[in-house]
Amino acid sequence: MAININQEAREFHLTNGKISYIFRVMEKSGQLEHLYYGKGVNHRKSFKHLIEREARPASTNMLEGDYTSSLEHIKQEYPSYGTTDYRYPAHKIIGQHGSHVTNFQYESYHITKGKPALENLPATYTEQEEEAETLEVVLFDKILQCRLILSYSIYTNRSVITRNARFVNLGNETCFLDSAMSTNIDLPDDQFEMVHLNGAWARETHLQAQSLFKGVQSISSSRGASSHIHNPFLALKRKQTTESSGEVFGFSLVYSGNFVGQIEVDTFGVTRVMMGINPFQFKWKLAPGESFQTPECVMVYSDKGLNGMSNTYHALYRERLVRGRWRDKDRPVLINNWEATYFDFDEEKVLAIANTAKELGMELCVLDDGWFGERHDDTSSLGDWFENKQKLPDGIDGLARKIDRLGVKFGLWFEPEMVSKGTKLFSEHPEWVLSTPGRRASHGRNQYVLDFSRPEVVDYIYKLMDSVLEKATISYIKWDMNRYITEAYSSDLEADRQGEVMHRYILGVYQLYERLIHKYPDILFESCAGGGARFDPGMLYYAPQAWTSDNTDAVERLKIQYGASLVYPLSAMGSHVSAIPNHQVGRTTPLHTRVNTAYFGTFGYELDITNLTAAEKEEVKEQVRFFKEKRSLIRTGRFYRLLSPFDGNETAWMVVSNDQSEAIVGYYKVLAKPNDKFNRIKLQGLDPDKRYLINNNPVDHFGDELMNIGILLKRNETGYPQDFNSEVFVLKEV
Ligand code: DGJ
Repeated sequence: MAININQEAREFHLTNGKISYIFRVMEKSGQLEHLYYGKGVNHRKSFKHLIEREARPASTNMLEGDYTSSLEHIKQEYPSYGTTDYRYPAHKIIGQHGSHVTNFQYESYHITKGKPALENLPATYTEQEEEAETLEVVLFDKILQCRLILSYSIYTNRSVITRNARFVNLGNETCFLDSAMSTNIDLPDDQFEMVHLNGAWARETHLQAQSLFKGVQSISSSRGASSHIHNPFLALKRKQTTESSGEVFGFSLVYSGNFVGQIEVDTFGVTRVMMGINPFQFKWKLAPGESFQTPECVMVYSDKGLNGMSNTYHALYRERLVRGRWRDKDRPVLINNWEATYFDFDEEKVLAIANTAKELGMELCVLDDGWFGERHDDTSSLGDWFENKQKLPDGIDGLARKIDRLGVKFGLWFEPEMVSKGTKLFSEHPEWVLSTPGRRASHGRNQYVLDFSRPEVVDYIYKLMDSVLEKATISYIKWDMNRYITEAYSSDLEADRQGEVMHRYILGVYQLYERLIHKYPDILFESCAGGGARFDPGMLYYAPQAWTSDNTDAVERLKIQYGASLVYPLSAMGSHVSAIPNHQVGRTTPLHTRVNTAYFGTFGYELDITNLTAAEKEEVKEQVRFFKEKRSLIRTGRFYRLLSPFDGNETAWMVVSNDQSEAIVGYYKVLAKPNDKFNRIKLQGLDPDKRYLINNNPVDHFGDELMNIGILLKRNETGYPQDFNSEVFVLKEV
């Protein structure tokens, strides 16, 4: 029982027992009215009694003689502005004569099993038809001769509804889309806190929570990438909602470009939530016969707190957003040379690293930035994707072969969307750089952005990358993107299509990814954008993992990884052990804490392992062995946040296997406290009746004990109190 239709009353009830989503067609206006979204309710013949109508003084009304027809007081599915509703609309179309008024009226509906793919855009999917059902509601604006298709998919066994919208111009006149949200919901009250992830370079995904106020509040990006600043995610939680109890509504946009997540609390206490492409600097020309597809918004409802919401996102994104051969496979333990050498390496150095990696049990050696053109610092060579023969006399293929022979896989860094001045690409095709005619082109890290809205640019870069990949055995690609877009203008588009550049750009990026993963299905892609500037669901559709942040300091990472875990599974989070003093913040933390933090992600190293002492090598060998033993659990288990780094000095989290027979707990204490209290952490997600051994200690504990009484943290676990201390506990069912 997923999508129920009352044909006569023209009501739609999407439910899977866990959640319900109800809306209807208004009899007189033919527009859509929202009735309910939240915890599942029983289906009944009609939900007419949920309709709220009342003549309100000072309101304007759509229909003559009907004083209850003010859209300002009616909850809607996909509202427009200026026909009695004064709030921000879900769409805005400029039609003939410059008008902005629309009137999309119900025409028909269509139900399909499963979930159709979105054209040229990433989206969650199904593998079996029974996994979801999709309702498409078709609306039509007679004056614009424009069709609007609102699409809703409900998963059978997940508390998830996805939404998107598609516009089709069936008329003879051109119109312009000024705004086209992916979703809109009018919730009946405003007793919420807005939770979102804010940051900057090297300080991404910091958790924020604020009570809603009357008025407009939003998160967004206008930078050409989803950005370090705001992640394309927000949640509304009740004040009393905790990690494990209470209501939460999550909204996550499967998109990597400019977005907005906006909440408008009106004066009557209605909360309008919308999410989609940022209308700021967006304008899409819809010529006769053309259509426009919005990205997908994934809406999760949880009555089991924030962690309940996160678990739903984790499972969905891990199982039905990430694609390809790496989706269900353990990821290799990698060594990346970036923080070990930066640009200063040659073949000998890389091979030395690879040799040591082999000795330590690592599986993949990644060569980062600097292998091509004359790239000795960040001032040159992006776009010249030809190996530097001084550094690598036998080329990338020669190096890859030598590393492969050691029994270690080889991975390579690219930054395909960028170009440096002085390159062949730049001199031959200056028109391929995004820049506004007659104006200065701003740089970021000395580099310029290629116009990926042009198919020939995408094609050119594809061929360059393909020629490297065809020759060499490459198992992994780190796809970087190190600056935001400025002076966005494409010399390929007419004046009235310049508002399309940012969206067309990201479609070009998706296109390049699609072509590469199609031709090289065995390559593991890791997306990166100066760390986490495109750590978003859109990227995960192409690259199963993403570099979470350029900040590799263990203490900083606690906040970054904790915040990211609100939406993203551990299998998506690139996490490496780096050198001390840390290169981003200068902090010196013990090796075990750097490792204990990096375990809760895809795990790798990013330091000069050739310089390790014999004792350190033994330690690292053991860490790699331990991670390999636990990585399936970490990748596939249920993740629980136990103590928040945003609330104090301690952080704790854990992963429990799906059969509850195993778990791994990470506990971190930033500053040491002398003569501290006896401290316990209460675990979660265990089977209350199972008995568990902790770190193979002889005494076993019932799950309920561990969850209600907690694990005792030894005050001086490492012999003496120490700053930046941590412990990992492994639980096994007896
Ligand atoms: C930024 C990335 O996040 C780093 O890991 C590294 O790849 C550099 N770019 C290389 O320029």
